[in-house]
This record gives sequence, C-alpha cells and structure tokens, in this order.
Amino acid sequence: MPVISFASPKGGSGKTTSAIILVCELAQRAGVIMIDADPAARSQEWSQRGKKHDRIEVISCADEDRIQDVIDDAATRAPFVVVDMEGAATNLNSMIIGQSDLVIIPTGDEQQDATAALRAIRQVGQVSRTARRDIPARVLFARTKAAIKARNARDINAELRDAAPAFAVELNDRTAFSSLHSYGGTLYDLDERAVGGLPRAIENSVAFASEVVQVLRGSK
Ligand SMILES: Nc1ncnc2c1ncn2[C@@H]1O[C@H](COP(=O)(O)OP(=O)(O)O)[C@@H](O)[C@H]1O
Ligand SMILES: [Mg+2]
Repeated sequence: MPVISFASPKGGSGKTTSAIILVCELAQRAGVIMIDADPAARSQEWSQRGKKHDRIEVISCADEDRIQDVIDDAATRAPFVVVDMEGAATNLNSMIIGQSDLVIIPTGDEQQDATAALRAIRQVGQVSRTARRDIPARVLFARTKAAIKARNARDINAELRDAAPAFAVELNDRTAFSSLHSYGGTLYDLDERAVGGLPRAIENSVAFASEVVQVLRGSK
C-alpha cells in the first residue's frame, strides 16, 4: 500500500521525529511498516524503547541492493509503509524516492532549512524525470513555534513555496514530540504528568496524519 518517505539533506530537519509521529498516528487505525533507511538508526532505536505495538513493525535497511525488495515486500504486507531516510542526497535515497507515493520534506522556517528543502525537492524532480512519473512531494514545516498562529504565507520562503506545495498543518516544536525518542512508544503511551502539553501534541499529530491521508487520496 502507499509508501510515504521523509527526505531532506539536512540533519536535524525533523525527518525521524515527524516519521515516528506519523507511524504512531497511522497505527491507531491500521498496520504500518516503518523502514529505517538511515545508518544512524534513530527510528530503530525508538522502536526498541518503551511499549511495543502490534500494528507497528520497524525494519532497518540502508542497503542499495536490498532496499527495493524490502519496500515492495512491506507494501504488499502493510496498509502503510513509512520510510525514514538519511540526511544526504544519496543514491539509496533516490531509489527510495523512486518507490514513494508521497515524499514529505520537513523543514524549519529559517533560510538554511529552506535551502535544504529545495535540494530535496530537486532530487524528487530528478527521480521523477528518470522514472517518467510525477512523484508527489510536500513540504512539512516542522519544529515551528506553536505561538505563531496562521503563518503568513509571505513569511515562507517564496522560492520554496513555488517549488512544492506545503502541508497546511505544521508539526510544532513540542516536548511531547521530542520525548518520543527517550520514552519510545506512541504519544498515547506517554504520561501527561511527566510530559507537558500532551493533549495539544496529540491534536497536532492527529491533524497531520489526517492531512497525509487526504493527500494520499488525492483529495487535497
Ligand atoms: N516537532 C518537533 N518538536 C520537538 N522536537 C523536535 C521536533 N522535530 C524534531 N525534533 C528534535 O530535533 C532533533 C532532530 O530531529 P530529527 O527528527 O532527528 O531530524 P532528522 O531525522 O531530520 O535528522 C531531535 O532531537 C528531535 O527530538
Ligand atoms: Mg533522522
């Protein structure tokens, strides 16, 4: 079923965290296979901590010779496949992009983030040309400040806005999101007394996952 991948050549742009948030949310309704294609294996580390979930399977594969088979196999077995990529414009990442139904490009709102996002969009464009198929890509504003509501479109880097559509939902900078790395499990397993702002983080992740599903259905 659909393959959703997270790309950006910039380390720290929010690929792994945003991918984990999506995996956890999709798993509330359906099975998800997460493929950790980053040799740093941060997704794999997350999956080994905390509560295990029946509907989440995490597989590590950062091997060009195997990745296509691993993705194809996952796509036949699970309703959703989410691939977390390394922060680099590698051949492995091009192969993953080539098998994706949607490439999500997380970015902060600073210029250096926008530059990295543009490079990721260009990589998707190159793979699309090679594959002779339009691979949908969307920019995801991540780690943004929740206090700044209703982002003024003019504030977004104009070049980036022209290059690819962006999700209406942003994943704000939230302690609950970063704490997933230390506690493992999903937002629903976290203790509200230990992690501040949990209900808002859950609202944010629900809104993000439903926009992803709408985009996959082509209704947005
Ligand atoms: N929405 C967010 N809210 C809070 N912290 C975040 C968020 N997204 C990422 N982070 C934090 O930023 C750091 C880098 O994020 P990460 O997802 O690992 O980026 P990447 O995979 O692109 O290198 C991590 O320590 C993570 O906890
Ligand atoms: Mg990562």
